[in-house]
Amino acid sequence: MTIRLAASAVGEAAALLRAGKLVAFPTETVYGLGGDATSDESVASIFAAKGRPRFNPLIVHLSHTDHAEKFAQIDGRAARLMRRFWPGPLSLVLRRAPRCPISLLASAGLDTLALRVPGHPLALELLRAVGRPIAAPSANRSGRVSPTTADHVLGEFDTYIAAVLDAGPCRVGVESTVVDLTGKTPLLLRPGGIATEELEALLGPLAVPSPEEAPRAPGMLASHYAPRLPLRLNVTSVDAGEALLAFGPDAPSLAKETRWLSKSGDVDEAAANLFSMLRALDRADFTAIAVMPIPEHGLGRAINDRLRRAATR
Ligand code: TXA
Ligand code: MG
Repeated sequence: MTIRLAASAVGEAAALLRAGKLVAFPTETVYGLGGDATSDESVASIFAAKGRPRFNPLIVHLSHTDHAEKFAQIDGRAARLMRRFWPGPLSLVLRRAPRCPISLLASAGLDTLALRVPGHPLALELLRAVGRPIAAPSANRSGRVSPTTADHVLGEFDTYIAAVLDAGPCRVGVESTVVDLTGKTPLLLRPGGIATEELEALLGPLAVPSPEEAPRAPGMLASHYAPRLPLRLNVTSVDAGEALLAFGPDAPSLAKETRWLSKSGDVDEAAANLFSMLRALDRADFTAIAVMPIPEHGLGRAINDRLRRAATR
Protein backbone atom coordinates (compact mmCIF):
# COMPACT_ATOMS: atom_id res chain seq x y z
CA MET A 1 0.00 0.00 0.00
CA THR A 2 1.23 3.43 -0.94
CA ILE A 3 1.07 5.90 1.94
CA ARG A 4 0.22 9.57 1.57
CA LEU A 5 2.69 11.86 3.30
CA ALA A 6 1.93 15.47 4.19
CA ALA A 7 4.38 18.12 3.03
CA SER A 8 5.70 18.31 6.60
CA ALA A 9 6.85 14.66 6.36
CA VAL A 10 9.55 15.43 3.82
CA GLY A 11 12.18 13.88 6.12
CA GLU A 12 10.32 10.57 6.08
CA ALA A 13 10.09 10.69 2.28
CA ALA A 14 13.82 11.36 2.09
CA ALA A 15 14.59 8.40 4.37
CA LEU A 16 12.53 6.09 2.15
CA LEU A 17 14.41 7.28 -0.95
CA ARG A 18 17.77 6.80 0.77
CA ALA A 19 16.67 3.26 1.61
CA GLY A 20 16.15 2.57 -2.08
CA LYS A 21 12.34 2.85 -2.05
CA LEU A 22 10.24 4.75 -4.59
CA VAL A 23 8.50 7.97 -3.55
CA ALA A 24 6.25 10.09 -5.78
CA PHE A 25 6.75 13.81 -5.21
CA PRO A 26 5.39 17.06 -6.60
CA THR A 27 7.32 19.22 -9.02
CA GLU A 28 6.07 22.43 -10.62
CA THR A 29 5.23 20.46 -13.80
CA VAL A 30 3.78 17.07 -12.79
CA TYR A 31 4.27 14.53 -10.00
CA GLY A 32 7.44 12.50 -10.47
CA LEU A 33 8.05 8.87 -9.50
CA GLY A 34 11.34 9.26 -7.67
CA GLY A 35 14.09 6.78 -6.96
CA ASP A 36 17.78 7.03 -6.01
CA ALA A 37 19.46 7.77 -9.36
CA THR A 38 22.74 6.25 -8.19
CA SER A 39 21.14 2.86 -7.49
CA ASP A 40 20.58 0.45 -10.38
CA GLU A 41 18.05 -1.42 -8.25
CA SER A 42 15.98 1.66 -7.46
CA VAL A 43 16.02 2.74 -11.11
CA ALA A 44 14.98 -0.75 -12.22
CA SER A 45 12.07 -0.62 -9.81
CA ILE A 46 10.95 2.68 -11.39
CA PHE A 47 10.69 0.94 -14.76
CA ALA A 48 8.92 -2.01 -13.16
CA ALA A 49 6.41 0.27 -11.43
CA LYS A 50 5.64 2.17 -14.62
CA GLY A 51 5.14 -1.03 -16.57
CA ARG A 52 7.16 0.39 -19.46
CA PRO A 53 7.58 -2.07 -22.31
CA ARG A 54 11.06 -0.68 -22.90
CA PHE A 55 13.64 1.48 -21.20
CA ASN A 56 13.29 5.20 -21.85
CA PRO A 57 16.00 7.32 -20.32
CA LEU A 58 14.86 9.18 -17.20
CA ILE A 59 15.26 12.76 -16.07
CA VAL A 60 17.59 13.10 -13.09
CA HIS A 61 16.62 15.79 -10.60
CA LEU A 62 19.14 17.85 -8.64
CA SER A 63 18.73 20.22 -5.69
CA HIS A 64 21.15 22.81 -7.03
CA THR A 65 22.58 23.96 -10.35
CA ASP A 66 26.14 23.71 -8.97
CA HIS A 67 25.81 19.93 -8.68
CA ALA A 68 25.28 19.44 -12.42
CA GLU A 69 28.99 19.38 -13.27
CA LYS A 70 29.54 16.32 -11.05
CA PHE A 71 27.26 14.34 -13.35
CA ALA A 72 27.46 15.89 -16.82
CA GLN A 73 29.70 17.95 -19.07
CA ILE A 74 28.52 21.55 -19.03
CA ASP A 75 29.34 23.73 -22.04
CA GLY A 76 28.65 27.47 -22.41
CA ARG A 77 25.19 26.91 -23.84
CA ALA A 78 24.20 24.63 -20.97
CA ALA A 79 25.59 27.06 -18.40
CA ARG A 80 23.57 29.94 -19.89
CA LEU A 81 20.35 27.92 -19.92
CA MET A 82 20.88 26.65 -16.40
CA ARG A 83 21.51 30.16 -15.07
CA ARG A 84 18.40 31.51 -16.76
CA PHE A 85 15.86 28.70 -16.31
CA TRP A 86 16.83 26.62 -13.27
CA PRO A 87 15.14 25.93 -10.97
CA GLY A 88 12.39 25.42 -13.54
CA PRO A 89 10.68 23.25 -16.14
CA LEU A 90 13.67 22.70 -18.43
CA SER A 91 15.53 19.39 -18.80
CA LEU A 92 18.90 19.38 -20.52
CA VAL A 93 20.32 16.32 -22.26
CA LEU A 94 24.10 16.48 -21.80
CA ARG A 95 27.07 14.13 -22.06
CA ARG A 96 27.70 12.14 -18.89
CA ALA A 97 30.73 13.24 -16.90
CA PRO A 98 33.68 10.79 -16.97
CA ARG A 99 33.07 9.12 -13.60
CA CYS A 100 29.38 9.88 -13.40
CA PRO A 101 27.93 7.90 -10.45
CA ILE A 102 24.41 7.85 -11.89
CA SER A 103 22.98 4.46 -12.85
CA LEU A 104 23.50 3.63 -16.53
CA LEU A 105 19.97 2.27 -16.51
CA ALA A 106 18.69 5.81 -15.77
CA SER A 107 20.38 6.82 -19.05
CA ALA A 108 19.01 3.66 -20.73
CA GLY A 109 22.61 2.78 -21.50
CA LEU A 110 23.33 6.07 -23.31
CA ASP A 111 26.39 8.26 -22.83
CA THR A 112 24.02 11.13 -22.18
CA LEU A 113 22.00 12.26 -19.21
CA ALA A 114 18.91 14.45 -18.80
CA LEU A 115 19.22 16.81 -15.82
CA ARG A 116 16.93 19.33 -14.24
CA VAL A 117 16.57 21.38 -11.06
CA PRO A 118 12.80 21.52 -10.45
CA GLY A 119 11.14 24.78 -9.46
CA HIS A 120 8.99 23.49 -6.61
CA PRO A 121 9.99 24.34 -3.03
CA LEU A 122 9.00 20.94 -1.65
CA ALA A 123 10.82 19.07 -4.43
CA LEU A 124 13.95 21.08 -3.65
CA GLU A 125 13.58 20.44 0.08
CA LEU A 126 13.24 16.72 -0.61
CA LEU A 127 16.27 16.65 -2.93
CA ARG A 128 18.37 18.48 -0.34
CA ALA A 129 17.24 16.10 2.39
CA VAL A 130 18.08 13.03 0.28
CA GLY A 131 21.46 14.44 -0.68
CA ARG A 132 21.54 12.36 -3.85
CA PRO A 133 20.28 12.87 -7.40
CA ILE A 134 16.77 11.49 -7.90
CA ALA A 135 15.62 9.88 -11.14
CA ALA A 136 11.96 10.61 -11.76
CA PRO A 137 9.73 10.05 -14.74
CA SER A 138 6.16 11.30 -14.53
CA ALA A 139 4.36 9.23 -11.89
CA ASN A 140 1.93 7.47 -14.20
CA ARG A 141 1.78 3.95 -15.56
CA SER A 142 3.09 3.60 -19.10
CA GLY A 143 0.65 4.98 -21.67
CA ARG A 144 -1.36 7.06 -19.18
CA VAL A 145 -1.33 10.83 -18.81
CA SER A 146 0.96 12.53 -16.33
CA PRO A 147 -0.45 13.08 -12.82
CA THR A 148 -0.81 16.59 -11.43
CA THR A 149 -2.23 15.67 -8.02
CA ALA A 150 -1.38 13.10 -5.35
CA ASP A 151 -4.78 11.48 -5.93
CA HIS A 152 -3.87 10.84 -9.57
CA VAL A 153 -0.70 9.14 -8.38
CA LEU A 154 -2.57 7.00 -5.85
CA GLY A 155 -5.01 6.02 -8.60
CA GLU A 156 -2.12 4.78 -10.74
CA PHE A 157 -0.16 2.78 -8.19
CA ASP A 158 -1.17 0.67 -5.24
CA THR A 159 1.93 -1.41 -4.78
CA TYR A 160 5.52 -0.75 -5.87
CA ILE A 161 5.74 2.77 -4.51
CA ALA A 162 6.22 3.39 -0.83
CA ALA A 163 4.70 6.85 -0.55
CA VAL A 164 3.45 9.94 -2.29
CA LEU A 165 4.37 13.33 -0.90
CA ASP A 166 1.23 15.44 -1.23
CA ALA A 167 1.56 19.15 -1.88
CA GLY A 168 -1.63 19.72 -3.84
CA PRO A 169 -1.91 20.34 -7.57
CA CYS A 170 1.08 21.17 -9.76
CA ARG A 171 1.39 24.72 -11.01
CA VAL A 172 2.56 24.11 -14.59
CA GLY A 173 0.73 20.88 -15.34
CA VAL A 174 2.71 19.93 -18.45
CA GLU A 175 6.08 18.24 -18.37
CA SER A 176 9.38 20.05 -18.68
CA THR A 177 10.79 21.12 -22.04
CA VAL A 178 13.58 18.71 -23.06
CA VAL A 179 16.52 20.16 -25.01
CA ASP A 180 19.37 18.00 -26.29
CA LEU A 181 22.71 19.85 -26.21
CA THR A 182 24.93 16.90 -27.11
CA GLY A 183 25.25 17.96 -30.77
CA LYS A 184 26.27 21.18 -32.54
CA THR A 185 22.68 22.33 -32.96
CA PRO A 186 20.43 22.23 -29.93
CA LEU A 187 17.48 19.91 -30.48
CA LEU A 188 14.04 20.36 -29.02
CA LEU A 189 13.17 16.80 -28.00
CA ARG A 190 9.94 17.67 -26.17
CA PRO A 191 8.05 20.95 -25.98
CA GLY A 192 7.00 21.68 -22.40
CA GLY A 193 6.88 24.15 -19.54
CA ILE A 194 9.41 26.62 -21.00
CA ALA A 195 8.31 28.20 -24.28
CA THR A 196 10.46 27.49 -27.32
CA GLU A 197 10.63 31.25 -28.06
CA GLU A 198 12.23 31.89 -24.67
CA LEU A 199 14.87 29.27 -25.34
CA GLU A 200 15.55 30.51 -28.85
CA ALA A 201 16.04 34.04 -27.54
CA LEU A 202 19.05 32.68 -25.66
CA LEU A 203 20.25 29.86 -27.92
CA GLY A 204 19.28 30.84 -31.43
CA PRO A 205 17.13 28.54 -33.53
CA LEU A 206 16.32 25.13 -32.08
CA ALA A 207 16.15 22.18 -34.43
CA VAL A 208 13.40 19.62 -34.14
CA PRO A 209 14.46 16.04 -34.84
CA SER A 210 13.50 15.09 -38.39
CA PRO A 211 11.93 11.68 -39.01
CA GLU A 212 15.39 10.36 -39.96
CA GLU A 213 16.76 11.67 -36.71
CA ALA A 214 13.74 10.46 -34.78
CA PRO A 215 15.90 7.85 -33.07
CA ARG A 216 17.18 10.74 -30.94
CA ALA A 217 13.68 11.73 -29.95
CA PRO A 218 12.22 10.62 -26.64
CA GLY A 219 11.36 6.98 -26.47
CA MET A 220 13.22 6.01 -29.63
CA LEU A 221 16.05 3.74 -28.82
CA ALA A 222 17.85 3.16 -32.11
CA SER A 223 20.62 5.58 -31.14
CA HIS A 224 21.13 3.91 -27.82
CA TYR A 225 24.34 2.35 -26.74
CA ALA A 226 24.95 -0.89 -28.54
CA PRO A 227 28.02 -2.98 -27.76
CA ARG A 228 30.81 -3.12 -30.33
CA LEU A 229 30.79 -6.91 -30.09
CA PRO A 230 28.06 -8.91 -31.82
CA LEU A 231 25.33 -10.14 -29.51
CA ARG A 232 23.99 -13.67 -29.78
CA LEU A 233 20.60 -13.98 -28.11
CA ASN A 234 18.70 -16.85 -26.49
CA VAL A 235 21.76 -19.06 -26.33
CA THR A 236 21.75 -22.46 -24.70
CA SER A 237 25.45 -23.07 -25.28
CA VAL A 238 28.53 -20.88 -25.58
CA ASP A 239 31.18 -20.83 -28.31
CA ALA A 240 34.85 -20.65 -27.40
CA GLY A 241 35.88 -17.03 -27.18
CA GLU A 242 32.45 -15.75 -26.20
CA ALA A 243 31.54 -13.93 -23.03
CA LEU A 244 28.27 -14.94 -21.41
CA LEU A 245 25.49 -12.86 -19.97
CA ALA A 246 23.70 -15.44 -17.86
CA PHE A 247 20.18 -15.55 -16.43
CA GLY A 248 18.92 -18.12 -13.98
CA PRO A 249 20.80 -20.70 -11.95
CA ASP A 250 22.02 -22.96 -14.76
CA ALA A 251 24.52 -21.31 -17.06
CA PRO A 252 26.41 -23.20 -19.77
CA SER A 253 30.07 -23.48 -18.89
CA LEU A 254 33.00 -22.74 -21.23
CA ALA A 255 32.45 -18.99 -21.51
CA LYS A 256 35.66 -16.97 -21.25
CA GLU A 257 33.85 -14.82 -18.72
CA THR A 258 30.36 -14.97 -17.24
CA ARG A 259 28.28 -12.22 -15.68
CA TRP A 260 24.96 -13.06 -14.07
CA LEU A 261 22.09 -10.71 -14.84
CA SER A 262 20.27 -12.59 -12.11
CA LYS A 263 21.16 -15.96 -10.66
CA SER A 264 17.72 -16.35 -9.11
CA GLY A 265 15.93 -15.48 -12.36
CA ASP A 266 14.58 -12.11 -11.15
CA VAL A 267 13.85 -9.82 -14.13
CA ASP A 268 14.00 -6.62 -12.04
CA GLU A 269 17.47 -7.56 -10.82
CA ALA A 270 18.44 -8.38 -14.41
CA ALA A 271 17.26 -4.97 -15.61
CA ALA A 272 19.32 -3.27 -12.93
CA ASN A 273 22.43 -5.10 -14.15
CA LEU A 274 21.82 -5.05 -17.90
CA PHE A 275 23.65 -1.97 -19.15
CA SER A 276 26.60 -2.07 -16.79
CA MET A 277 27.21 -5.78 -17.53
CA LEU A 278 26.89 -5.31 -21.30
CA ARG A 279 29.53 -2.61 -21.06
CA ALA A 280 31.77 -4.70 -18.85
CA LEU A 281 31.70 -7.58 -21.35
CA ASP A 282 32.14 -5.42 -24.46
CA ARG A 283 35.88 -6.15 -24.71
CA ALA A 284 38.08 -6.88 -27.71
CA ASP A 285 39.38 -10.12 -26.17
CA PHE A 286 35.96 -11.73 -26.65
CA THR A 287 34.45 -12.66 -30.03
CA ALA A 288 30.84 -12.01 -29.05
CA ILE A 289 28.50 -11.67 -26.11
CA ALA A 290 26.16 -14.63 -25.77
CA VAL A 291 22.97 -13.91 -23.86
CA MET A 292 20.76 -16.53 -22.29
CA PRO A 293 16.96 -16.34 -22.81
CA ILE A 294 15.15 -13.77 -20.66
CA PRO A 295 11.48 -14.46 -19.93
CA GLU A 296 8.99 -12.10 -21.65
CA HIS A 297 7.27 -10.89 -18.49
CA GLY A 298 7.55 -7.69 -16.45
CA LEU A 299 10.84 -5.93 -17.15
CA GLY A 300 11.88 -8.97 -19.17
CA ARG A 301 10.01 -7.44 -22.12
CA ALA A 302 12.03 -4.23 -21.88
CA ILE A 303 15.26 -6.19 -21.54
CA ASN A 304 14.45 -8.26 -24.63
CA ASP A 305 13.43 -5.18 -26.59
CA ARG A 306 16.76 -3.58 -25.74
CA LEU A 307 18.77 -6.70 -26.52
CA ARG A 308 17.06 -7.22 -29.89
CA ARG A 309 17.84 -3.62 -30.88
CA ALA A 310 21.44 -3.98 -29.79
CA ALA A 311 21.75 -7.28 -31.68
CA THR A 312 20.40 -6.03 -35.01
CA ARG A 313 22.83 -3.11 -35.37
O1 TXA B 1 8.37 17.61 -16.05
C1 TXA B 1 9.03 16.59 -16.16
O2 TXA B 1 9.99 16.51 -16.93
C2 TXA B 1 8.62 15.37 -15.31
C3 TXA B 1 8.91 15.73 -13.85
C4 TXA B 1 8.67 14.60 -12.91
O3 TXA B 1 10.24 16.20 -13.73
N1 TXA B 1 9.33 14.20 -15.71
C5 TXA B 1 9.06 13.56 -16.90
O4 TXA B 1 9.82 12.42 -17.12
O5 TXA B 1 8.24 13.96 -17.71
P1 TXA B 1 9.48 11.33 -18.25
O6 TXA B 1 10.36 10.15 -17.97
O7 TXA B 1 8.02 11.07 -18.27
O8 TXA B 1 9.99 12.02 -19.56
C6 TXA B 1 11.38 12.17 -19.77
C7 TXA B 1 11.65 12.55 -21.19
C8 TXA B 1 11.38 11.37 -22.08
O9 TXA B 1 10.71 11.82 -23.23
C9 TXA B 1 12.77 10.85 -22.37
O10 TXA B 1 12.85 10.14 -23.54
C10 TXA B 1 13.59 12.13 -22.36
O11 TXA B 1 13.00 12.90 -21.35
N2 TXA B 1 14.99 11.86 -22.00
C11 TXA B 1 15.49 11.60 -20.78
N3 TXA B 1 16.82 11.34 -20.84
C12 TXA B 1 17.16 11.45 -22.13
C13 TXA B 1 18.39 11.27 -22.84
N4 TXA B 1 19.52 10.93 -22.22
N5 TXA B 1 18.36 11.45 -24.19
C14 TXA B 1 17.20 11.77 -24.82
N6 TXA B 1 16.02 11.94 -24.20
C15 TXA B 1 16.00 11.78 -22.88
MG1 MG C 1 5.98 10.75 -18.91
